[in-house]
This record gives sequence, structure tokens and C-alpha cells, in this order.
Amino acid sequence: MTNSSYERLFFPALKRLDPESAHDHTLTALALAQSNPVGRAALKAIAGAVPARPVQVGALHFPNPIGLAAGFDKDARVVAGLALLGFGHIEVGTLTPRPQPGNPRPRVFRLPADGALINRMGFPNGGVEAAVARLRALPIERDYLVGVSLGKQKETPLEEAAGDYVAVMRAAHAYADYLAVNISSPNTPGLRQLQGGRYLYELLRMLVTENGRLASATGRAPKPLWVKIAPDLELSELDEILDTLLMTGIDGIIIANTTLRRDDLTEKAKSETGGLSGRPVRQRSTELIAHVHRRTNGTLPIIGVGGVDSAAAAREKLDAGAAVVQLYTGLIYGGPGIAGRIVRELAANAS
Ligand SMILES: Cc1cc2nc3c(=O)[nH]c(=O)nc-3n(C[C@H](O)[C@H](O)[C@H](O)COP(=O)(O)O)c2cc1C
Repeated sequence: MTNSSYERLFFPALKRLDPESAHDHTLTALALAQSNPVGRAALKAIAGAVPARPVQVGALHFPNPIGLAAGFDKDARVVAGLALLGFGHIEVGTLTPRPQPGNPRPRVFRLPADGALINRMGFPNGGVEAAVARLRALPIERDYLVGVSLGKQKETPLEEAAGDYVAVMRAAHAYADYLAVNISSPNTPGLRQLQGGRYLYELLRMLVTENGRLASATGRAPKPLWVKIAPDLELSELDEILDTLLMTGIDGIIIANTTLRRDDLTEKAKSETGGLSGRPVRQRSTELIAHVHRRTNGTLPIIGVGGVDSAAAAREKLDAGAAVVQLYTGLIYGGPGIAGRIVRELAANAS
């Protein structure tokens, strides 16, 4: 399958399916493609030539600045295929200790005129053990990074949430290049309260301690620990979070998750409950990146995410202080060639 036949035939057909069925078909196609040499060659052809644009962040060597955001490959089914499409890092999950079904369907909605999606998935996933079995099968030496997004079971009360995050960390530790603490999804009731001082310090202290313990027990280095925040925080709340991240020794911050805001949308689906992603979150996310970069004097590494759909949108976040960026909604509207395309354009426009 050539790049152009894919773009002409299959990609438009997917857009006519309901969003979650299209997603399920895409994962099935990627799983098939990554499993055989012809499919792998087709994925590479879709990506095109992807120039090396390495970014070093502490111990992490990102081969290029474009990653896939959490939520696309929740169960780590198609990591190898996504890497062939040009993504330099892939954040799998969000994973919970045990399997859970998430919210009833429909739970993903397209807002094409707004370049946006609304989702209220609620962390459907097959549980961390199943995902880890797939990560274990990946080559140890790889030319891309895998992040694992840690979450909590829907029914676990906030007072006991730390136990869930620690359990997912324990299971995934050996197989992740970095770990992302997701305390910012709007679709698990109460989850965002974990961003507040009362819970945050305790949660992060436990995770940092466990990270150190797992590292010394196995002779490995501790895994870089990133915290993913919501774009709906007030700056004063964000500043408190930054103090806690610096105090507990967190390695970086991912800015940002989906928003509950609904400004300036034209599509009917705007009234759906859930988190909004894509073009409408681009500016707010970039503003928060710039704020964090300024306030920490560039000492806290940032992964920028929200509305990246072009090299210009990626460049805007890198210029604001992000070390690398991620995208999700841009892949839905821009198609599977988007990672390679953006990396090529960034490389061409570099000095
Ligand atoms: C359908 C869908 C599911 C998502 N699931 C997760 C998730 O499980 N964990 C997470 O941290 N973020 C999740 N996200 C948020 C994305 O990772 C990202 O932060 C957000 O969509 C903004 O980026 P974008 O505008 O490029 O989509 C999800 C987003 C979408 C659209």
C-alpha cells in the first residue's frame, strides 16, 4: 500500500465511521501491519524519510521531538507500528492496576470544523499486566522511547489512590523509559483533585520513594517521573504544583491534558460531556508551557501537548520552552503521515 493510496482510500473511509470504531479499526490495521515485513515497509512509506533530530532530556534520548500522547495506544498494542510512523516516543496508557471497561459508548465525538475531539473514555484498559506483557516483547534496544501513563481504578477512593499508582509503577517499571503520573484526566470522577496540595505531595513522595526502591532492588537507574497536568488550572494552583514537583524531585511536567472549557466552538457536539482536545487547547497549553518555563528558569523539563497539528504548532511549543511535544488529535485529522511530516518540516526550517 502506497502512502497516497492509503491517504486516498482508507483514511477518508475511516472518517465516515463513528470515532471509536474508526480507532478500533486503526489499531487492528496497525497491529497487522507491524507484524510482518510488508506491513512494516508500508508504515515506513507512510512516514516517509524521518530525519534524526535528537533531544536529550536528562537520561532520556528522544530521537526526534514528536511523540504520541497518552490515550491513543492505551494497551500498548501498536507501539512498534507507531514508531515506524515516525513518532520518536509513544506514551501508552493510561493504565490501571486491573482491567476496567470505562464509560458507556458513545464516548468520543468529532468536532471537525473546530479541529477538535471531545472524549469521556474514563480509562478503559486491559490492566497493567496485559500491557506489560506486550511491552516485554519489544526489543530492548530500540530507536524510540516508551512512556507508561499511570492511573487509578475508577472506584478507588482518592485517599487510597496512591496505592493504585504505585501498583502500576511496580508492574511497568522494568519496561518503561519514563513514567507519567496522570492526575489530570477529567473523566475519572475526582481525579483532578489529586493535583491539589493535600494529595499531591503524599502521592509524589510515595512514587519517588518506590521508584528509588525499585531501582536499587534491580540495579537499574530510577525511571524519569513526569507529572501530567490539566490546562484548566489557575496560575496560582499551577505554581503550588510546581513547588511540590521541585520539592519531591519530579523529573518533568507534561502540559497539558484535555480541557473542560468550551470557548468559541461551532460544532453541535460541543455540548457533550468530556475533555476537549485539539486546536481549541493549543494556545492555553502553550501559555502554560511558557509560564512554567519562566517560573522554573528552564530547570523543569517540559513535554508540550495540546493542539499540535503542524510544524508551526510544534515550533510554537518548543519556542515556549517545551523540550519535546506530543499530539493525539492532530493524528486523527492529519492522518498517519503527520509525525514524519512535522519532523521533516522542523528539520528543514532549523537554522
Ligand atoms: C480519545 C482520547 C483519549 C485520551 N486518553 C488519555 C489518557 O488515557 N491519558 C492521558 O493522560 N491523556 C489522554 N488523552 C489526552 C491526550 O493525551 C492529550 O493530552 C490531549 O488530547 C491534548 O492533545 P491533542 O490536542 O494533541 O489531542 C486522551 C485524548 C483523547 C482525544
